[in-house]
Amino acid sequence: MVQAEQGAKVVVTGAGGGIGAAVARRFADRGAQVVVNDLDAGRAKSVADEIGGVAVPGDASSVVEEAREALGGTIDVYCANAGVGRDGGRPGEPLDEQGWALSWDVNVMAHVRAAHALLPDWLERGSGRFVSTVSAAGLLTMIGTAPYSVTKHGAYAFAEWLSLTYRHRGVKVHAICPQGVRTDMLDASGSAGDLVLRPTAIEPDDVADALFRGIEEDRFLILPHPEVAEYYRARAAEPDRWLSGMNRIQQQWEATG
Ligand SMILES: NC(=O)c1ccc[n+]([C@@H]2O[C@H](COP(=O)([O-])OP(=O)(O)OC[C@H]3O[C@@H](n4cnc5c(N)ncnc54)[C@H](O)[C@@H]3O)[C@@H](O)[C@H]2O)c1
Repeated sequence: MVQAEQGAKVVVTGAGGGIGAAVARRFADRGAQVVVNDLDAGRAKSVADEIGGVAVPGDASSVVEEAREALGGTIDVYCANAGVGRDGGRPGEPLDEQGWALSWDVNVMAHVRAAHALLPDWLERGSGRFVSTVSAAGLLTMIGTAPYSVTKHGAYAFAEWLSLTYRHRGVKVHAICPQGVRTDMLDASGSAGDLVLRPTAIEPDDVADALFRGIEEDRFLILPHPEVAEYYRARAAEPDRWLSGMNRIQQQWEATG
């Protein structure tokens, strides 16, 4: 069952803009009933009104119960999309404890909490779909930001664990790992984003296209930038060579001031 068809009950977190809004629109176009979550209530409402969905504003960590109620008691597809980017991690910079804590909370623990709330029902029904918006940073790394790189690895690891643990019980999991996508987050990513993400950045709609192709082909790993597969292979096959290449980019970034 594709679960992306007419009548599917879908939740998308962080859907007040960017990738989440594009994914929410795409599900609604396919006839799904969509809950639009965002920390920003105004943005959630505006997207929900546009697509005929229901806004459930608030923190992505605690959206499942209210969303389930809004959808009449069932969630078929849960898109854990909300994410935060925080700079930093280099010695000499003040340690941003709050930035690290927020990154863990939104980029990893919100997924863990949602899965915990969704699984009892999904296992009983023998079906459910969990879509994790990770990042290529979860397979590789992101120049200039340790909190983002580390927590996106965590999100990817959790999605893998979920998939291998429950795939024989009807639970489908997808991990979307794009490089740059033209959203507010890319605009806020500063000179590192300009150097490594912007030149090959794609539109949020391209990510939604890749997700629906991945769902139709029943694939766990969804790479809206196909070249990421090669980088991921290179990282696994020759770690030092890959790290030296990434360090050259780091030095290039440092040279930009
Ligand atoms: N833009 C990129 O280049 C890029 C690349 C790879 C992965 N991603 C990932 O895609 C996802 C979506 O990012 P985007 O680029 O669309 O960014 P965006 O900033 O356009 O949208 C993110 C949305 O999430 C909301 N949000 C933040 N914290 C939240 C929380 N705790 N609960 C609910 N909503 C919250 C924000 O209000 C915002 O509307 C993120 O997980 C991000 O890490 C983005």
